Amino acid sequence: MILITGGAGFIGSALTNYYSKENMIVIVDNLSMGKKSNIHFNDNVTFIEGNVCDEKLMEELLSKYQFDYIFHLAAIASVADSIERPVETHQVNFDSVLNLLELVRQHQKNLKRFVFSSSAAVYGDELTLPKREESVIRPLTPYAIDKFSAEKYVLSYNNLYGIPTSAVRFFNVFGINQNPQSVYSGVISKLVDCYKKLLDGEEAIFSLFGDGKQSRDFIYVKDVIAALDLVAKSQYSLGEVYNVGTGKSTSLNELILLIDDLLNVHLPIKYNEARRGDIHDSLADISKIRQIGFTETYNIEEGMKEYLKYEIEF
Ligand code: UD1
Repeated sequence: MILITGGAGFIGSALTNYYSKENMIVIVDNLSMGKKSNIHFNDNVTFIEGNVCDEKLMEELLSKYQFDYIFHLAAIASVADSIERPVETHQVNFDSVLNLLELVRQHQKNLKRFVFSSSAAVYGDELTLPKREESVIRPLTPYAIDKFSAEKYVLSYNNLYGIPTSAVRFFNVFGINQNPQSVYSGVISKLVDCYKKLLDGEEAIFSLFGDGKQSRDFIYVKDVIAALDLVAKSQYSLGEVYNVGTGKSTSLNELILLIDDLLNVHLPIKYNEARRGDIHDSLADISKIRQIGFTETYNIEEGMKEYLKYEIEF
């Protein structure tokens, strides 16, 4: 049996849909960003609409079921929001993790693995690339500080109490069911939304912050699911943290050219000032996760193709 917090969200729902054919799944999600329609429901899936900060709910849950795996993906994944509301986001991004670890310590004697989802945001603006897990950590926002401290707690629970834990640092994940609605949604989800409008004959101009030369390590969500499964099941990953990326960098200009090509259109771009605090380049060194057997199936082009086929008929 598997607990997936945030199981209706972008990555959580992909993980749910991957596991639910052959495993019993319990999801806790408050539907703040996620949607029930992201989940392919079957008899194996139990959905609980609730907040991971609700200590009573979480205690009930962890004393009722014995889980084999717990994936803690619930979070307020917006850096901007964490700057606006540091206290509220801290409750979700940090307190819920510590509370869950304690509940695991008390109630989950048969747990095989607790996997925590952290972020490349922990590296901050230090310029050396690619980022290795032991590179300089410079969390600059409440979001990044919470992710880093939670990650440290998660791994310490392995060292101190023998709880089987691991953590992953996601780079820029893209794919089906990523919500494009927020101002701070991932750039690919916003681009695809804009291409959809263009193809529907609506007015579509993409707002690009900066000159488009900034680059990211974009990883397709299905490869992220493979990485999570691997980290959860490897005997070597106990008490360890892993970068989850591809080790390849793509600039926004390259990305837009690629999608233009795939869809055979030309997306109009409006160039704006770079976002304040934007990191110019981000890139993962993935040798550590490679050592436990990770190989990605999708490059950016294959990932984009599959994503676009799903979103847009072409
Ligand atoms: C990601 C996180 C961000 C975090 C940062 C730290 C997401 C969605 N964002 O940001 O919260 O602070 O990692 O590592 O995971 N862009 C546009 N137009 C848009 C949207 C974005 O030009 O409409 C640009 C951004 O300015 C940026 C690039 O696209 O240069 C990528 O943006 P985004 O997808 O938000 O990812 P990160 O900047 O890596």
